[in-house]
Amino acid sequence: MEFVSSVALLLRAGLLLLLVAHVRPSVSGCDGQLYEARINNLCSKKFHLDMGRLDSDLWCSWPETIEIYEELTNCTYQVALKMACFWPNRVVDSFFMQIHRSYFHHCALTGRLLHEPPIGILVPFIGVSVLITLLMTAVVVWRSKRTQGML
Ligand SMILES: *[C@@H]1O[C@H](CO)[C@@H](O)[C@H](O)[C@H]1NC(C)=O
Repeated sequence: MEFVSSVALLLRAGLLLLLVAHVRPSVSGCDGQLYEARINNLCSKKFHLDMGRLDSDLWCSWPETIEIYEELTNCTYQVALKMACFWPNRVVDSFFMQIHRSYFHHCALTGRLLHEPPIGILVPFIGVSVLITLLMTAVVVWRSKRTQGML
């Protein structure tokens, strides 16, 4: 019971953190406009190149594009790190919306994307890794509580 409520609490805390990071437009040190310019230059250029090399018939194939997609995600993350920007943030959101509009918009309609995680505001696997982190934390908390109880 206690374990379940710990997890619920942690999940709620995690969601709240995500929301706060999300809503806050910028922090000191982060220049949103400059960040946008950087990822538009650095990250999307490489993405457009890589996608261009791929047969456009394969654009809707999640296995074929996941690496390119992850690279793009990582790129936006690395740039945010360097510029002291929160990640993810609003700029990243609209950046990915733009990417989806240009490359993946028609995919869902064709039904070929059965295995693609739903396209959300955030990139799906980020959510998964956040969940895993939260679960691991919950397990650690639970185990330390259990150890305390046995003493
Ligand atoms: C993300 O990018 C950095 C720098 O470009 C690289 O060192 C790192 O291995 C990448 N991480 C992943 C998970 O691809």
